[in-house]
Amino acid sequence: MSTANDASSNASPSTMDAQLGEFETLEQFIIEQEDRFPHSTGSFSRLLRDIGLAAKIVNRDMRKAGLIDIYGSTGETNVQGEVQQKMDALAHREFVLALRRGGECCLIGSEEHAEAIPLNTKVEGGDGDYIVLLDPLDGSSNIDVCVSVGTIFSIYRLPDDHDEEEPTLDAALQPGTEQVAAGYVVYGSSTMFVFTTGNGVHGFTLDPSIGEFLLSHPNLTTPDTGNIFSINVGYHHSFQEGLRNYLDWLQEFDPETNRPVKTRYIGSFVTDFHRNLLKGGIYMYPATQGNPEGKLRLMYEANPMAFIAEQAGGRATDGHQPILEKTPEKLHQRTPLFIGSDQMVRRAEAFLQGEPERAETLKT
Ligand code: AHG
Ligand code: MN
Ligand code: MN
Repeated sequence: MSTANDASSNASPSTMDAQLGEFETLEQFIIEQEDRFPHSTGSFSRLLRDIGLAAKIVNRDMRKAGLIDIYGSTGETNVQGEVQQKMDALAHREFVLALRRGGECCLIGSEEHAEAIPLNTKVEGGDGDYIVLLDPLDGSSNIDVCVSVGTIFSIYRLPDDHDEEEPTLDAALQPGTEQVAAGYVVYGSSTMFVFTTGNGVHGFTLDPSIGEFLLSHPNLTTPDTGNIFSINVGYHHSFQEGLRNYLDWLQEFDPETNRPVKTRYIGSFVTDFHRNLLKGGIYMYPATQGNPEGKLRLMYEANPMAFIAEQAGGRATDGHQPILEKTPEKLHQRTPLFIGSDQMVRRAEAFLQGEPERAETLKT
């Protein structure tokens, strides 16, 4: 199978366009995966196709945002009390439309909507067994300045004791361990679609010339340690002591243990996560004075990325408990988050729990 590296190693003008058959499309890949399950109905493949389609539409609009009056805010605040950007609203609308039209999803939870949104897809002939929770546009503050942003999604099955025609919010309040799939799209220098169904992590790059996501990063794994840490140090004075000690440790000069560790923080979680996944590193959004529960949302930011991180060999915690094991109580619940390379997250946990000596055997 070709990979991104094979393609770039001999890229001449005549070979720069993907050749038919050289790369597998996202749809081919999903169908092949689903074919491995004897009783599959194709419903899950169609659901991912719908998400991929919405992502392409958002990507298309974002690429010309400055030309079609979709920069800036809508003048509204969302349920989190945050200023809603026009692109937030547009992305939310496109994902809801694609899922409604597709017919495989019966309940949506979105950062941009206070309540869960039931879709009566059975009436229109769909299967409607899936629940999709999403952050339609992550990193809103970066939109107007041409910095990468993303979409994050998490997929659950409707529990048997719920009615597809009238699913209630509690159907969506399942722990992250119950996710059947999770993924993100990063609208960056390239647009990539990365997802897991619990069978490894796979990354697809959008070829805009043919409008297809093509498999460029099969079986993505993350280094078990790295030399990047990502956190908003502007909030340093409200961090708990264990975290401040960890940050001091990362910045000490000790070339033998590859310190100081570099800092990179874009302020767009998807993009910070994606970079650290590929290169090795840790992303942290702890409790702060302004956000005592942390800022990121458990159901559509932390859980899906934790599933992906673990599938890639990494780790995700709130400092005391694995993210995926947390019991959700509400759709827009927040959580502190420490996520990335296994050894780095374990060291952060040791510091946060006031036992930094526990980290002495870890790789730096
Ligand atoms: P969203 O745009 O979906 O509201 O998410 C913004 C999040 C996340 O993407 C980013 O890492 C974080 O907010 C940045 O927050 P600070 O500006 O407080 O660092
Ligand atoms: Mn977000
Ligand atoms: Mn968002």
